[in-house]
Amino acid sequence: MSGGKTVLGKDLTGLDALSTDQIRAILDTAEPMKQIARRRVKKVPVLRGKTIVNLFFEASTRTRISFEFAEKRLSADTVNIGSVGSSVSKGETLVDTARNLEAMSIDMVVIRHWSAGAAAFLAARIPSSVVNAGDGAHEHPTQALLDILTLRDHFGRIDGLKVCIVGDVLHSRVARSNIHGLTKLGAEVAVCGPRTLLPAGIEELGARVVNGLEEAIEWADALNVLRLQLERMQDGYVPSLREYNRVFGVTSAHLQRADRELLIMHPGPLNRGVEIDSDVADGPHSVILRQVTNGVAVRMAVLYLLAGGEALLAEAASEWSQE
Ligand code: CP
Repeated sequence: MSGGKTVLGKDLTGLDALSTDQIRAILDTAEPMKQIARRRVKKVPVLRGKTIVNLFFEASTRTRISFEFAEKRLSADTVNIGSVGSSVSKGETLVDTARNLEAMSIDMVVIRHWSAGAAAFLAARIPSSVVNAGDGAHEHPTQALLDILTLRDHFGRIDGLKVCIVGDVLHSRVARSNIHGLTKLGAEVAVCGPRTLLPAGIEELGARVVNGLEEAIEWADALNVLRLQLERMQDGYVPSLREYNRVFGVTSAHLQRADRELLIMHPGPLNRGVEIDSDVADGPHSVILRQVTNGVAVRMAVLYLLAGGEALLAEAASEWSQE
């Protein structure tokens, strides 16, 4: 879209590939984007004339809708495509789908795909910018960015924070992106869950393993509680959901035992009564809906920076000031 000359380069495929300065640039750009949601007219013209295709091959509520809100609030033209109802259901390949979209003069593709590496695969083959909205168990960079923004809002810093990611780390792209992003910004990251759901070599990404929820709660400033990916549990990763909840479910009793403030996060969707009890998810320690709110601002920031950032702002500044 912009020839790779933006702060972020052409694409956002994962936080592993970003520098600390690039991550900070996204978080800082999200701050003014938050203001737009508070305006009477929640729209600015910075992406006017740009066309963005949202290509979602897996189910999504938060990511898909917040990307669409982000695009609309920046005045882009958007098209939504899923595997059902498109020619993907007739066997058309990802690259052929994207090339056909390119032939209709698009500028950016936001893609969620079940296959790890799908976003990078596409980014290497089309000139449009590609944004990874979750690829298999690999990365979910915008989720981690909104998680980090929420932590920064609350604590005023990331450096030195202790964040424990709890639960089904094995299948979690959210966990991987959080570990990359948080450690780059100086946080300490731990993971906690059944051994069957902790990937071998997770320490090599920069996370330590803590033994059990009690130790995690004693150590952490924030718990990021992951969804138990129930669709994969027929493979026998946990003895039963009841057993999982008994050992790794976060309950209000846990929070009462914590001797200091403990922030509760969850990327959604929630399995209430499995990895998290309702009184925790809806309670005063929870910032789960603030994460969702920040998701729109972070995605606006990513789209804006990929599209050329400063140059676009200069173009639009006079129009903003006239409102
Ligand atoms: N957190 C997240 O990715 O949620 P969705 O699957 O609803 O987009």
